[in-house]
Amino acid sequence: MSDKTQKPWGGRFAGEVDRLMEQFNASIGFDRRLWQEDIEGSRAYAEALARAGVITGEECKTLLDGLDRVAAEIESGQFAWSEADEDIHMAVERRLTEIVGPPGGKIHTGRSRNDQVATDMRLWCKGATGTVLEKLRSLQSALLEQARPLVRTLMPGFTHLQQAQVISAAHYLLSFFWMFERDRDRFRDFARRADVLPLGSGALAGSAIEIDREFLARRLGFASVSQNSLDAVSDRDFAAEFIAAASLAMIHLSRLAEDLIIYSSAGYRFIELSDAFTTGSSLMPQKKNPDSLELVRGKTGRVIGDLAGFLTTLKGLPSTYNKDLQEDKEPLFDSFDTLVKSLAVTARLVATLKFNSEAMAACLDDFLLATDLADYLVAKGLPFRQAHMVVGKLVRECETRRTSLKDLPLDVYTSASELFAEDVKEVLDFSSSLASRKSHGGTAPEAVEEQISQAERALAAE
Ligand code: ARG
Repeated sequence: MSDKTQKPWGGRFAGEVDRLMEQFNASIGFDRRLWQEDIEGSRAYAEALARAGVITGEECKTLLDGLDRVAAEIESGQFAWSEADEDIHMAVERRLTEIVGPPGGKIHTGRSRNDQVATDMRLWCKGATGTVLEKLRSLQSALLEQARPLVRTLMPGFTHLQQAQVISAAHYLLSFFWMFERDRDRFRDFARRADVLPLGSGALAGSAIEIDREFLARRLGFASVSQNSLDAVSDRDFAAEFIAAASLAMIHLSRLAEDLIIYSSAGYRFIELSDAFTTGSSLMPQKKNPDSLELVRGKTGRVIGDLAGFLTTLKGLPSTYNKDLQEDKEPLFDSFDTLVKSLAVTARLVATLKFNSEAMAACLDDFLLATDLADYLVAKGLPFRQAHMVVGKLVRECETRRTSLKDLPLDVYTSASELFAEDVKEVLDFSSSLASRKSHGGTAPEAVEEQISQAERALAAE
């Protein structure tokens, strides 16, 4: 049973809150996760109240000791959580007051749960960003370590899932390194914008107490203070940005997962997944299923759902704080949890991958060299469009004769264009094709070695 007299806001209420409403209203089930941030915010706020002369130094000390005890109780699992507390802010304040008595009633002076929750959430995002950056970095180093020995290992590169040109397995793996590098950049960029303190904005209009907001910002590690209290209590751009950055990172993971599922399948066998990240079938004894990758791909939908759902929550909210904003937590936490787990599993899976260079070489379609043939004619002076046409006809000829470009007789070449000579056979080699793509960022071994140094530099930065 709820008791109206227990509610900190109960003064103007004559009737009791319906039990169902109490449950519906409560965020304590999921926002208790913010307890450390909430207590840290309250510690700083108590100090700021003392500096403003609102409480005495002694009261401040009492509050800080009390907050330490609340923290210890939560940490040790002794804290009695109750839905009647509504949210983490009221739970901490309730327990603090039980412990320290009347001074507990002063901690909320000039503060609102509106500026409090916005502060807690931003603090939480700082910690979460650190974890995400670390996980992204581990995955990047796993990709880089796998890539190192594969600089000359040939594999078909695809467009439209059709074999297109020869690439090296290192070049392939590193393509994902740069996607995750952008993700790190996005999270860092997000963190810079989120690094603004809302505390001291009150419920919406600011604080009547001379609270030193600059002190609060320094004390809590924020780079600056918000400039408009109305905006500060209702701004959840940071939550949306976090989930958006998480969605893009998940999309990169999902695309990697999709490739690896294809490459490990019977039609390809380019890679072998470790037993540790696959599962068997309860019916078919031969099966080794890439469940880890399928789950990463599947969970991407869930994080995109978090983003779509939360943006819809924000859309059309009137100024300033509205309870709808309590809906920021679950999608934010879920996107973080899902991303961090997916990154950790993928990093381990990548580190334990085995590349099968024979299978990749055996699978190379000789038409992968068609562009090289066109380049050969271009080098001899033929405009590219004409060269393209000539080689296209040779490919068609191969198909009619059911043969390959390598086995096509020289006279067929020379009759297609008099620019062809004996040396054309030198072009028809996968390793030379690889070596020819030397442009910066290309697949040639020397370009990939340079790319590896750049990747090392990116990992060493900061
Ligand atoms: N639990 C609330 C939330 O997460 C805290 C802020 C409540 N503010 C209020 N005026 N009811 O948004």
